[in-house]
Amino acid sequence: MQTSTGHKPIRTAVFPVAGLGTRFLPATKAIPKEMLPIVDRPLIQYAVDEAREAGIEQMIFVTGRGKSAIEDHFDIAFELEKTMSERGKSLAVLEPTRLGPGNCAYVRQQEPLGLGHAIWCARSIVGDEPFAIFLPDEFMHAHPGGDGCMKQMVEAYNEVGGNLLSVLEVPREQVSSYGVIDPGAEVSGGQGTLTEVRGLVEKPRVDQAPSNKIISGRYILQPEVMRVLERQEKGAGGEIQLTDAMAQMIGTQPFHAVTFNGRRFDCGSKLGFVEATLALALEREDMGADVRAMAQRLLQ
Ligand code: UTP
Repeated sequence: MQTSTGHKPIRTAVFPVAGLGTRFLPATKAIPKEMLPIVDRPLIQYAVDEAREAGIEQMIFVTGRGKSAIEDHFDIAFELEKTMSERGKSLAVLEPTRLGPGNCAYVRQQEPLGLGHAIWCARSIVGDEPFAIFLPDEFMHAHPGGDGCMKQMVEAYNEVGGNLLSVLEVPREQVSSYGVIDPGAEVSGGQGTLTEVRGLVEKPRVDQAPSNKIISGRYILQPEVMRVLERQEKGAGGEIQLTDAMAQMIGTQPFHAVTFNGRRFDCGSKLGFVEATLALALEREDMGADVRAMAQRLLQ
């Protein structure tokens, strides 16, 4: 099957969730980082919602030890549902947690050897199709009435094909914590402008970074990346880096960057997590006014 522009459609999403979440210890000792809630939804739920909004149905979770709460979250909670039904409570609140039979798969990354290694662990299920990647701790929040990040990326992909990365600009002194792109020409595509990617560097030194545009947790990649990851080459921090594998594909495959028209919260960091919680609570119709009043009281 192909899109009207001749590109294979994006039907599969990979969620690498096997990281240790050390920045949130001790909270993440027994609970996966991806199950930490922003108001009343775990981070992983927002990422899955974003995938579905983009028309993606097949979800692959790359998990590790101690992550079984994620599987339970997307399963039927029989006792809970039975009790709620008997008490006349609506089950609608659980609707987003239903992925449907056969629509999710779990693979284990036995050791946290890096993001690239985690993605490679999903190779058999991904097969020979282009696929999307979501890092759930990068919370991409659409503007009210706007499209989610992956939906914007899929639209751009349907026009230009190849590989796409979501990027955002950060203050230059922060680049050494991220994967950074070497930006080329700008072309129109999707809902705005796409930037050609000429090169990629993982965690560069500030004075050696090719730009201040960092990769922000969403990717659409061609299956060839699995063949590069197969080599298991270690990069920054001794980890098998996805950025390094993608960098090796540049020149043989088209790569474009999409700047998300929306807000991004780095929920892998405590500050980003608190900011996301406040931002979403303030936006909510059922609590926004109360949260604003509460914040004013606290700041007095
Ligand atoms: P991070 O480095 O942000 O996450 O990885 P972490 O290792 O869980 O967190 P800290 O730094 O110790 O606090 C980015 C994403 O890649 C996944 C993580 O789960 C996260 O979604 N990841 C990382 C893996 O699945 N496996 C790995 O070996 C490394």
